Amino acid sequence: MSPALIERYREFLPVTADTPIVTLSEGNTPLLPAPVLSAQVGAEVHLKFEGCNPTGSFKDRGMTLAVSKAKESGVEAVVCASTGNTAASAAAYAARARLRCIVLLPEGKVALGKLAHVSMCGAEVVAVKGNFDEALEIVRYLANTYPVEMVNSLNPYRIDGQMTGAFEIVDVLGDGPVYQAMPVGNAGNITAYWKGYKRYQEAGRLQRLPRMLGFQAAGAAPIVLGKPVSNPETVASAIRIGNPASWKDAEAARDESGGLIDAVTDEEILAAYQLLGSKEGVFCEPASAAGVAGILKLAKEGFFKPSDQVVCIITGHGLKDPDTAIASAPTPTSLPAEKGAVASALGLESQ
Ligand code: F0G
Repeated sequence: MSPALIERYREFLPVTADTPIVTLSEGNTPLLPAPVLSAQVGAEVHLKFEGCNPTGSFKDRGMTLAVSKAKESGVEAVVCASTGNTAASAAAYAARARLRCIVLLPEGKVALGKLAHVSMCGAEVVAVKGNFDEALEIVRYLANTYPVEMVNSLNPYRIDGQMTGAFEIVDVLGDGPVYQAMPVGNAGNITAYWKGYKRYQEAGRLQRLPRMLGFQAAGAAPIVLGKPVSNPETVASAIRIGNPASWKDAEAARDESGGLIDAVTDEEILAAYQLLGSKEGVFCEPASAAGVAGILKLAKEGFFKPSDQVVCIITGHGLKDPDTAIASAPTPTSLPAEKGAVASALGLESQ
């Protein structure tokens, strides 16, 4: 087994010799050059493919630490509200730690792969007749009232674990990129990356802090609008959030880094989602394409210089949301099981 993420970055994380390390061998995800996207954007674009984590999203970086600390504290159950990925990650790490796991999901709004994952890992699922923000409100109440540990990103261990994404980027590139682009939902991840870059700078491992570029879906863009959205809507169900918990910290990351937080439409998100799959071979979930949609939008305004290094965080795997993939793809050609019919339908000509 490759070393646990917590072991690799132990000196930066709040663990002691007594902390039981709950790991599924997370992190160490690929940083892929993106030649087609680079040409379109007019800069040097890399993709940090977080879909390669054990539960298929970046959440595992924070969950390994949050669940390890929950286990250390002796609590018997972990609880979270989720648009799906946090829940899948919590369920898997709680199973590994033999802790009870309770997840509250917005009913009817969670992608199929995430539901499957949560169920198979034995979590107790509550489908809340409301949105993510309402579910999170209930989880905060439960965690304040009962002996259950909240593993949403309001839990500081989640943020600390997710800092490791920034560490890995700098370890590969040798410095911070000029820009980092990413989707923003509950705003924990942008908070975590910015904290990670700053921590690495303090440790003398980084000279250049990146400018943070965050992108919300246009139908769920409270930070861009400057006010909560009571009925958030977007095809990118992972970031269908109207009142992000780490709102202030996301604004701080934006302002301290000289970056921006902007909105992209569902059409822009789906176009980037298709481009990533068909031109770069990277199948991600729709929310994960929001950062790429964002840099494509900025590129149209001449935002980047050719020498700019831009890292996009591809936050979750495409298999999380098979329904959106199938709905976005052309229908397969149906043919009889005959060699000639298949060859001629494909337009193949013999040599
Ligand atoms: N991308 C994906 C695939 C996500 O699942 C999320 C958040 C984000 C981006 C946004 O990250 O919330 O830290 O700003 N998913 C949460 C969940 C809300 O419940 O799985 P954020």
